[in-house]
Amino acid sequence: MEQREQWGTRVGFILAAVGSAVGLGNIWRFPYVVYENGGGAFLIPYFFALITAGIPILLLEFGIGRTGRGSAPLSLSKLSRKFEWLGWWQVLISFVITTYYVAVVAWAVSYFFYSFNLSWGEDTKAFLFGTYLGVPDDAVTESGLNLGGLQWHILLPLIAVWAGTYYVLIRGVKKGIEMMSKIFIPILFVLMILIVIRAITLPGAAVGLDHLLTPNFAKILPGFLGGTNPEWYSVWMAAYGQIFFSLSVAFAIMITYSSYMDKKQEVNNSGFIMAFSNCGFEFLAAIGVFAAIGFMAVSTGSEVKDVAASGVGLAFVVFPKIINTFPIFNSAFGMLFFLSLIIAGFTSLISIVEVLIASLMDKFRLTRKAAVNGVVGVCALVSIIYTTGAGIVLLDIIDHFINNFGIVIAGLLEVVLVGWFANITRIREDNNLVSDFRVGTWWNIMIMGVTPLVLLFMSYKNFQLEFTKAYEGYPFYALLTFGWLLVCATLLISFIVAYMFKWKTDIKQEGFRA
Ligand code: PHE
Repeated sequence: MEQREQWGTRVGFILAAVGSAVGLGNIWRFPYVVYENGGGAFLIPYFFALITAGIPILLLEFGIGRTGRGSAPLSLSKLSRKFEWLGWWQVLISFVITTYYVAVVAWAVSYFFYSFNLSWGEDTKAFLFGTYLGVPDDAVTESGLNLGGLQWHILLPLIAVWAGTYYVLIRGVKKGIEMMSKIFIPILFVLMILIVIRAITLPGAAVGLDHLLTPNFAKILPGFLGGTNPEWYSVWMAAYGQIFFSLSVAFAIMITYSSYMDKKQEVNNSGFIMAFSNCGFEFLAAIGVFAAIGFMAVSTGSEVKDVAASGVGLAFVVFPKIINTFPIFNSAFGMLFFLSLIIAGFTSLISIVEVLIASLMDKFRLTRKAAVNGVVGVCALVSIIYTTGAGIVLLDIIDHFINNFGIVIAGLLEVVLVGWFANITRIREDNNLVSDFRVGTWWNIMIMGVTPLVLLFMSYKNFQLEFTKAYEGYPFYALLTFGWLLVCATLLISFIVAYMFKWKTDIKQEGFRA
C-alpha cells in the first residue's frame, strides 16, 4: 500500500491549520461580533467558549485524524463503523460552503484590481449590487427566482481562483498546501500589521476603538447578576458561533489536516498555538477595521453605529468608502486590504477543498490527480451559479442555513457520538503521549458535557428563531429550497454514501485502541 502523504515539518502543519482558521470570518465577521456583543466585555464569553469548546474540539479532531490517519469519513469509521455518515455529512457541508466561499474570494480579486483607480466610485453600494453583482430587482420574490444572467466579470476572477486552487492541490500536501502556507501566512500577518499601523494613525481612530472596546458588562450578564439584556444568552451564543467558525472545527477540516501528521508529532501544544494565533489575528483585524471605521465616522461627521457593518457590507461597501476618504495613498491601502482578504480566504478555501479530495481518495482509492480533477471540476461548475445576478441572495440564504443548522448540528453530533460512544480518554492519552504537556480530565468534561449542552441550546434557539421569523423576510419557497431542503439533502446523501458504497481502502480499526 502506498504511503499516506505527510507534512514535512511541525511548523508546516501549524501554518496550514492557521491558514484554514484565519479566513474571511476573522476579518469581516469578528470585529462586528465584538462590537455588537458588549465590546471589551465580549472577551469573557469569547475566551470561555475558546476554552470550553474551541480548543477541546480542536484537540479531539487532531486526535481523531492523527490516529485514524484518514479523511473525516475514514477516521471516524475507524473509530466506529456507525460514525461514517457523520464524516460524510461534514464533507457535504464543506462542499456546499466551498462553492460559495470561492465566489467571495473571486470578488476580493476584482476589488483588488478596482483599488488601482477606485473604480467603485462614490456610491459604493450601488456599484456593488448594481454594476458589479448585477442583482436584478426581482432576484427572489414571491413570484419566483430571476437569476439575472451570468456576470462575466465575476466569472473571470472565479476561474483564476480555481486555477490557483488546482495548482496548489495537485502538488499535494507537502509541496502544495504546506509550501503555500509557509509563504502566505507570514505575508498575511505582515499585511494585517501594516493595515493596523495605517489605520490607528488616522484621525478619529480612537473613536472607533472606543466603540469597539468599551466594555458593556450589562449586555453579557443575566438579570440576577446585574445584566440588563433580556437576551444576554445571545451574546454567549455569538461567542460560541464565532469560535466554531473561526477555528474551522466541525467542518472535517482539522481531522483531514491532522491525518497528515507524523505519528510522533506533538499535538496539544500545536493546537494551543494554532488557536491563539487565530485569536491574535482576529484581534489585529478588529483593531484595524474599527480604527478605520472611526476615521470614516469622524471625517464624514456620522456615528460609528451608522458606519459599522459586517460581512459583504463591510468588505465591499464600507471599506471602499473608507478607501475613497483616505487622505493619501488610497489605492495602496485598498490593495493592502483586499490582498489580505484574498490570502485569508484562499488558504481557507484550500483547506476545505482538501477535505473533499481526501475523502474521495480514501473511499474510492483514487489517485490525487483523479480526485483533484473531479472535485475542482464539479465545484467550479456549481460555483458558477454564484456569478449570476441572484448569486448573492442564494449565498445569503445558503450560508445562513448551513452555518446555523449544518455546522452547529454536525458539531453537536460529533461531540455526542464520539464523546459518549467512543473511548475519548484513550484519544486524550494518545495525544498526551506525544505532547509537550498533558491535557487532564477537564477535557472529557468539556467534550462530553459542556459542549453538547451549549450546542443543544444553540440548535434549539436557532430553530425557534427560524420558525418565528422568516430569515431576512425571504419568501417561503426560497427558504425551503435553498435552506431546509438543501441541509436535508446533504444529510440524506451522507447516509447514502456511507451505507451504499463500499470502502475501497482498508478500514481496519488499527490505530484506535479499544
Ligand atoms: N475559519 C474560517 C474563516 O474564518 C472558516 C472557514 C474555513 C470557512 C474554511 C470556509 C472554509 O473564514
